[in-house]
Formats: sequence, structure tokens, C-alpha cells
Amino acid sequence: MKLFSKKHQRATRQVENLPRHVAIILDGNGRWAKRRALPRSAGHKAGAENFRNIATYCKELGIEYLTVYAFSTENWKRPKDEVSTIMQLLEKYLHESIETMARENIRLRFLGDTSVLSPELRALIEKTNAISEGIDGFQANICLNYGGRDEIVRAARAYAEDVQNGAENTLTEETFSRYLYSDGIPDPELMIRTSGEQRLSNFLLWQCAYAEFYFTDVLWPDFDRKESDRALEVYSRRDRRFGGVK
Ligand code: FPP
Repeated sequence: MKLFSKKHQRATRQVENLPRHVAIILDGNGRWAKRRALPRSAGHKAGAENFRNIATYCKELGIEYLTVYAFSTENWKRPKDEVSTIMQLLEKYLHESIETMARENIRLRFLGDTSVLSPELRALIEKTNAISEGIDGFQANICLNYGGRDEIVRAARAYAEDVQNGAENTLTEETFSRYLYSDGIPDPELMIRTSGEQRLSNFLLWQCAYAEFYFTDVLWPDFDRKESDRALEVYSRRDRRFGGVK
């Protein structure tokens, strides 16, 4: 498979170890807007558009899963206006996706506690979930009201409850991971964070146990196909030993 997009004409070599699953912490929307003397909302709008572009690119490349951190359990601390801008952008994105996902063969899944979201957003999520059931193509996972620790605590509670209700108590990493939001999704091999920050910020704590990290100063709205190529190229050269030796 060609890694580099035709548009950039940088290379045409075959890349063997393309990750199946890429996770991205979309960071830097606010700074992107500030540099242009625009309101933060303009940064989020550009960020949402870029998510669509990069999801399409991942699909074209043959990556199977893309997971993005759209809204964390901590993001509620942001000013009310900003939270509502992000929620509106998500609604807009879902409205548009309902029209296009079947045609484009893109499945959407939401990770996080969506029960506290607005009724409108929950209805859209239900609709996209129903459409996704009939699609077996590329999967985009949107983490919404998601926190890695929260996910693990919820999973532990659910497991304990099942055992209390008579389920067999045979806890293994594999059985536990079935209680996580990410049940059924392979762990990401590559975790990208944009905008220069180098931390995980409570994102996919369990799932990133063996992920390769790629940090870039590029702000999320500027993280285009060329920047994606760079990240994938770096990943393709990493030596993944999973604690063993080679
Ligand atoms: C991080 O940038 C961005 C967010 C917390 C919000 C991301 C949400 C969207 C792009 C909207 C909808 C998403 C999808 C997937 C359709 P920041 O605000 O922390 O940037 P800063 O650190 O420069 O202030």
C-alpha cells in the first residue's frame, strides 16, 4: 500500500507496518484560533473539519480504526460558551455523517458516558449507532465525556456487580477489557498528540499500554495529510518489542 498521498508526491514506497488503530489527542484548536486573532470557536470549527479530513485519509490508507479525544470528563470545566460550541459542532458533524456514512462506508462509535449529553445529541448518537450496525468498513471512535480512569472504575464496578449476580469470578486482562468502552476494538498501536503537549491526559490509559507515542508541535487544525504521513513514517521505523527482545 502507498503510504504517502498523491497530493504531496513525497514518496511511493510500500509501508508494511501500518498501524491498524491510530488514536489522536486533538490539541491546539484554541492556539490555532488565537494566532489568527479569531475566537476559540473558530479553532474548534477548523478542528472538527480536520477530523473529517484525517478520518477520510486514514480510511484511504487502510487504517481500520481512528479514535479521537473530542471531549474529556474534565472539559466540562471550560467556559459554558465553549462547551456549547463544541457540542454544537458535534451535532453538526453527526447530522452530516448520518447522510454520508453508509455511502462512505464509515462506522462511528462513541466511547464515554454519553448519558449526560443533551437529548438532541443522544438521539443523533443513537441514530448513528443504528446506521453503523449495517456498516463493516473503517471505524471512527469519538471519545465524548470520556476519561480513562473513569472508564476503568466503571468497568471494575460492572465486573463486581456481575460477580455478585452469580457470574464466574475469573478475572483476566482479557475478561476485564470486555467491560471497557472499547470492548471489541483492538488497542491503538500509535498514539498521536498535537500542539506540543507531551502527556496522555487521561486518554485510553488501559488501551495504550503498548502504544507508540508521537508528539508534534503542529496544532490540530494544521495536522494535515502530510503531517499524518510523517507520524506514520516515524511509527513504521519503531522497533516494537512488547517487553521482549529481538
Ligand atoms: C483541544 O484544543 C480541543 C478540544 C478539547 C475539543 C475538540 C473538539 C472538536 C474539534 C469538536 C468536534 C469534534 C469532532 C470529532 C467532530 P484546545 O481547545 O485545548 O486548544 P488549546 O490547548 O490551544 O487551547
